[in-house]
Amino acid sequence: MRSLITWSTSLTLASVVTASFETNLNYNSPSRRHPSLGVDVPKLKLSKRGLEPRAWDPAELKFTHNVASGDPYPDSVILWTRISPSLENDKSNVTVKGNVPLYNHDTERYIKASPNPVCVEYEVSKNEKFSSVVTKGTAYTTSDIDYTVKVEATGLAPFTTYYYRFTVCGSTNRSPVGRMKTSPGPDDNVSKIGFAVFSCSNYPNGYFNAYGNAARKDKIDYVLHLGDYIYETGKGTLGKDPRATNPKGTIYTLYDYRTRIAQYRTDPDLQLSHQRNAWIPVWDDHEVSNNGYRDGASALNNTEDSFVKVGGISVDQRKMNAVRAYFEWMPIRQVDMDDNLRIWRSFQMGKLLDLIMLDTRNYDRSITDLDWNKGYIQKIKDDAGRTLMGGRQENWFYNQLSKSHERGATWRLVGNQIVFSRINNTANANSPLNGDAWDGYTANRNRTLEHLYNNRIPNTAFLAGDSHANWVSDLVWLDEKEYNPATGDGGIGVEFAGTAVSSSGFGGTIASANKRSQDLVKANKELQWSEGYYRGYYELHVKKGEMRAEYYGCPTVATRNPFEISLANFTVKAGENHLTRNVANGTVESGALQTGNVKQTNVTLDTETNTWNITKFDQMFIKY
Ligand SMILES: *[C@@H]1O[C@H](CO)[C@@H](O)[C@H](O)[C@H]1NC(C)=O
Ligand SMILES: *[C@@H]1O[C@H](CO)[C@@H](O)[C@H](O)[C@H]1NC(C)=O
Ligand SMILES: *[C@@H]1O[C@H](CO)[C@@H](O)[C@H](O)[C@H]1NC(C)=O
Ligand SMILES: *[C@@H]1O[C@H](CO)[C@@H](O)[C@H](O)[C@H]1NC(C)=O
Ligand SMILES: *[C@@H]1O[C@H](CO)[C@@H](O)[C@H](O)[C@H]1NC(C)=O
Ligand SMILES: *[C@@H]1O[C@H](CO)[C@@H](O)[C@H](O)[C@H]1NC(C)=O
Ligand SMILES: *[C@@H]1O[C@H](CO)[C@@H](O)[C@H](O)[C@H]1NC(C)=O
Ligand SMILES: *[C@@H]1O[C@H](CO)[C@@H](O)[C@H](O)[C@H]1NC(C)=O
Ligand SMILES: *[C@@H]1O[C@H](CO)[C@@H](O)[C@H](O)[C@H]1NC(C)=O
Repeated sequence: MRSLITWSTSLTLASVVTASFETNLNYNSPSRRHPSLGVDVPKLKLSKRGLEPRAWDPAELKFTHNVASGDPYPDSVILWTRISPSLENDKSNVTVKGNVPLYNHDTERYIKASPNPVCVEYEVSKNEKFSSVVTKGTAYTTSDIDYTVKVEATGLAPFTTYYYRFTVCGSTNRSPVGRMKTSPGPDDNVSKIGFAVFSCSNYPNGYFNAYGNAARKDKIDYVLHLGDYIYETGKGTLGKDPRATNPKGTIYTLYDYRTRIAQYRTDPDLQLSHQRNAWIPVWDDHEVSNNGYRDGASALNNTEDSFVKVGGISVDQRKMNAVRAYFEWMPIRQVDMDDNLRIWRSFQMGKLLDLIMLDTRNYDRSITDLDWNKGYIQKIKDDAGRTLMGGRQENWFYNQLSKSHERGATWRLVGNQIVFSRINNTANANSPLNGDAWDGYTANRNRTLEHLYNNRIPNTAFLAGDSHANWVSDLVWLDEKEYNPATGDGGIGVEFAGTAVSSSGFGGTIASANKRSQDLVKANKELQWSEGYYRGYYELHVKKGEMRAEYYGCPTVATRNPFEISLANFTVKAGENHLTRNVANGTVESGALQTGNVKQTNVTLDTETNTWNITKFDQMFIKY
């Protein structure tokens, strides 16, 4: 009798432990089928450590990087935190004193049953006091996944704001409280949805004021990040330069990528953004390496040999290290467990809109401009076989556009990395078209436009980052369809490309940057606004009858500060398929309009006293 009780007790314990390991999605990610990528959960369960969790002293554990949420569905959202005995990231496959890993990926052996799993509970509530918890659960984390926790909170109501937190099991050691909103159901008649759209946040290049400003204004429902969330190169010296990178140099190993992404996540403005809103991110090149494509990146010279060694790591291994760290640290769903590179996915947000997130970068992209092969890319840019996405994703993309229209969604937002519209950059006379943007893949762009025009799919807005500048265009099939730049007639949608959070833009003075924008709008008739001086972001407010884009600029990212300037506003009326005229009501703060004025508010920073001289002070100050 006694032995039976013992037996059933340990069975219960085993099943609880098992359930908790599987609750943490990072044990499966990025792939269950590739043991060197995902963690082998069955083996983990068999390990001594898995079944005999040591009671951690809750005080020795810290929520090191606040909380985050993402990929909202009508009934579920991804919740994220990190609970760890140390701020330091896990080396996973190397033995470190006091932090011995469980599983050695190189030998495929377990080393030692230590340290033990950390247990956390998550709770989701309709209020900040957690007096009415609507869903909760338990998850484990270990050094194998860098002590990250990623769970799917289920059983939620559509388009509803919730609060969430994590607690170390059996203790009062709690994470900060996060807030998120579920998405509307596909058939809900939701009247408006707001997004803040970011890209190109380079930590050593400047402060993340853009993230902080949007979060503090609190006017949006979700955050979209179009990539270049981290940068792979190193800069500065830690302890000396306030924004020096960690690790110091270019990153290659899993440990490197974990450490870099973790460092970014210590930034208070980025943390605030993650804490206040659910994110829907995609990566661009720098999450892996500059100007990447299917088989390599600009620094690798591996066009023929995909295993050129850099830092002792093959190209493919490096990419997988980056991908694994990304899945561990970002509150993103993996929609296909059999496809460890897949981040392309879509969201049906009521009858109002469909959000289609693409990977034009790392998934299956044909060779890109790697700097040294510019001439070659210009020669092959019109080749019909070239693709940014690969056949599988391309087919899915066109089907998504059609299905969205067929189901009666008013708008289609395409979250993509690189600028879609043709941009004849006359300042660069030798190669005026950017071979690393859609301009290097013109057949893929034509196929997209052909699909939209032939199927009469209206109200599509391409969103883009990557370029560190603002570009607002009517979406048109140039040289194929009649287009009237004065009225917008002939368009099939719009493009809103946004500047960087902190990566450098045109440079120079406002006047020189604006001169360059004047040349650009002159050379590109569908380009209705160009701006390259300010760092910032834009908000997209979508309603049934119209969509409004509001562009914001940070006067400087050399300091952490709460100032921002309204740069320009745009309206698109449903059914019009181009920017509403007068574009931006004829007035913007900076850059150049195809038709209209630039009216500066004159913001200056006295660098000696570090004081601001701003005309419209009240409008530009967003309180901490
Ligand atoms: C949405 O509105 C349409 C048309 O007004 C109506 O037929 C439909 O039932 C509404 N759907 C919901 C979920 O309220
Ligand atoms: C394991 O660590 C070594 C040394 O740092 C590194 O070269 C290798 O790429 C790592 N393996 C994985 C899977 O990260
Ligand atoms: C890549 O190859 C090109 C052409 O051979 C050469 O000019 C360049 O220096 C190489 N880059 C690296 C990083 O090896
Ligand atoms: C770019 O503009 C220049 C000047 O108008 C023109 O000569 C050139 O043909 C254009 N290039 C492309 C690719 O459109
Ligand atoms: C794309 O379409 C334009 C307009 O029809 C055409 O001039 C161009 O040759 C096409 N390019 C490719 C690569 O299909
Ligand atoms: C954009 O719209 C906002 C809100 O209506 C307004 O305060 C701001 O001045 C506008 N910006 C520009 C550049 O017109
Ligand atoms: C342009 O001005 C009209 C009238 O004041 C206003 O309703 C509209 O929102 C403005 N458009 C933009 C893009 O700010
Ligand atoms: C901005 O500066 C220009 C030139 O100094 C001046 O003419 C203009 O009145 C200023 N605008 C504002 C809003 O202060
Ligand atoms: C601040 O603005 C005033 C008047 O608008 C001007 O006289 C002064 O030179 C400005 N100071 C700086 C540092 O730009």
